[in-house]
Amino acid sequence: VTAREGFGAAYIAALERFLTKGNEAELHAAYELGREAVTEGLGVLDIAVLHQGAVAVLVVSATPGEQLHATRAAADFFTEVLSPFEMSFRGYRAANDQLRALNESLRKQQEAAEVANRELEAFSYAVAHDLRSPLRTIDAFSQILIEDFEQVLGEHGMRHLRRVRASAQHMATLIDDLLSLSRVTRAELRRVSVDLTQLAQRITQGLVAAAPEREVDFISGDGLLGSGDPTLVAVVLDNLLRNAWKFTSKRAHARIEVGRVDGDGAPTYFVRDNGAGFDMAQATKLFAPFQRLHSDAEFEGNGIGLATVQRVVERHGGRVWAEAEVDRGATFYFTLGGPPA
Ligand SMILES: Nc1ncnc2c1ncn2[C@@H]1O[C@H](COP(=O)(O)OP(=O)(O)O)[C@@H](O)[C@H]1O
Ligand SMILES: [Mg+2]
Repeated sequence: VTAREGFGAAYIAALERFLTKGNEAELHAAYELGREAVTEGLGVLDIAVLHQGAVAVLVVSATPGEQLHATRAAADFFTEVLSPFEMSFRGYRAANDQLRALNESLRKQQEAAEVANRELEAFSYAVAHDLRSPLRTIDAFSQILIEDFEQVLGEHGMRHLRRVRASAQHMATLIDDLLSLSRVTRAELRRVSVDLTQLAQRITQGLVAAAPEREVDFISGDGLLGSGDPTLVAVVLDNLLRNAWKFTSKRAHARIEVGRVDGDGAPTYFVRDNGAGFDMAQATKLFAPFQRLHSDAEFEGNGIGLATVQRVVERHGGRVWAEAEVDRGATFYFTLGGPPA
C-alpha cells in the first residue's frame, strides 16, 4: 500500500465518521492523518484529489437534503485538515527567503573579497617591481665605490660600504622571493607529467657548485614522476632543497633525501634532511609568510619560502606538512592532487 492509498482509505473513513457524528475528535484524527501524510511525503495536491474522491463517494450515499449540509461540512473538514500542510509550507517559504537573502549577501562578500585580492596582487607585484630597480642601482654603485675608491674610503669606509651592499642584496632576495610568491598565485596552472628526480638533480647540482667544499650526500629515488605544473613543482623542490641544504650547513656529514611514499591515497613526495630540525609544537607557524623558527644569527632567511611552497601545492589541490625533531633533522611531505602519474 502506498502512502497515498493508505492515506486515502483512512481519510475517507475519517471524513465519513465526521459527517455522521460531526464531532471535534474526528476532526482531530483527520488532522493527525494529514500531519502523518506530510511526513510520508504527500503533497497538498494529493490530499485535495483524495478529498474530492472521498466527497464524491459520500455524497452518492446521502439524501438530497443531506447533500448540501454534507458538502459544506466536507469543505470545512478539508480546510481544517489542510492546516499542517499550510504550516509546513509557510515554514518552508520563510526558510527559503532566509536562504536566498543569505546567499545574496555571501555572493556580495565573495565578490568584494575577489576584488580586494586582485587589487592586492596587482599592488604587491607593482611595488616589488618598482623596489627592485632602485635597489639594483644602489648595489651597482656600491660595487663601483668598493672597486675604485678604496684609497679614498679607507678601511673604515669600506666596511660600511660592504654592509650597505650586503643589506641591498638581502633586500633584493626578499623582493625576488615576494615576486615569486605573488607570481605563483597569478600564473596559470599547466598540468603535465613531471620528473621530480630530474628536477631535484638539477637543483642540487646548482647548490653543490655554489659551495663545493661542503660534504653532502644526496639520495634520490629513481624516476619519481608526478602530475603537475613543471615550473611550479620546480619552485617547490627548489625551496625545500634549499632549506634542507641550509639547515644541514652545520653538519659535518649532511644527508639530503628526495623520495616518494605511496600510501593508499595520492602519491606523497618528501624531502628529508639530517639538519637542525625544529620543535613540532611550532609546526603550525611554518607555512605563514615571514614566520621563521630559527633566528637570522643561526640561519639566514626571510620566511617566504615555505609560504610559496604551500601556495603552489594548494593550487595543485595537494597538501604539505612536516615532521621534525630538534637537532635530528626534518622531513617535508607534499602531494600534488590530480590524477596519479
Ligand atoms: N629543512 C628544515 N629544517 C629545519 N627547519 C626548517 C627547514 N625548512 C624550514 N624550516 C623552518 O621553517 C622556517 C620557514 O622556512 P622558509 O619559509 O623556507 O624560510 P627561510 O628559509 O627563509 O627561513 C625556517 O626559518 C625554519 O625555521
Ligand atoms: Mg627557505
